[in-house]
Amino acid sequence: LSEADKIYLLNSVREIEDFPKPGIKFKDITTLLGDAKAFTLLIDHGDAKAFTLLIDHLVDRYSTMKIDYIAGIESRGFIFGAALAARLKTRFVPIRKPGKLPYTTISEKYSLEYGVDEVCIHIDAFSAITTSKPRVLLIDDLIATGGTATAAVNLINKAGAECVEACFVINLTFLQGDLDIKKTTSVYSVLEV
Ligand code: PRP
Ligand code: MG
Repeated sequence: LSEADKIYLLNSVREIEDFPKPGIKFKDITTLLGDAKAFTLLIDHGDAKAFTLLIDHLVDRYSTMKIDYIAGIESRGFIFGAALAARLKTRFVPIRKPGKLPYTTISEKYSLEYGVDEVCIHIDAFSAITTSKPRVLLIDDLIATGGTATAAVNLINKAGAECVEACFVINLTFLQGDLDIKKTTSVYSVLEV
């Protein structure tokens, strides 16, 4: 991605003050998906659509990395992960919040500022590959504290696969949420703020 592309993408993400709580500046990726005119007009970018530009970029990056599965984290990770999986003609695996997956699951808890949360995966999520350790790309829209993504990486390993890279559309780098993941897994963030 060129610097101009990155600025275009960043401008396509809308910031909502005090959502969901006072003091939080929420990164709203729906405007990137819908490429809302009010935002894209900030930069003349021809006919490009932010979502297409982003997925094209990820297709370029991952088409040669021998990815067996793309695992997306509920719910915004599904949007990017499913689009990328379809373009790469690879498999998609959902990592979900508790109580959502119908078959036998394994789970991983992680700490929030107050309390704990949990992510789950089907126990047989990666069973289509039997000759070698399945190579998984983890994807989510955003990494903040890194709690969700770190738990998701652990879950992929627990399920018998290898997380070859964790990919985020936006990394809130001041929170250093990728530090733990980087100990074991490569991290790629398209946009850093
Ligand atoms: C947001 C975001 C990431 C996660 C990042 O999801 O989409 O998944 O938080 O936070 P962390 O790095 O501090 O763990 P959220 O839980 O708000 O749910 P959603 O994707 O379903 O909107
Ligand atoms: Mg999320």
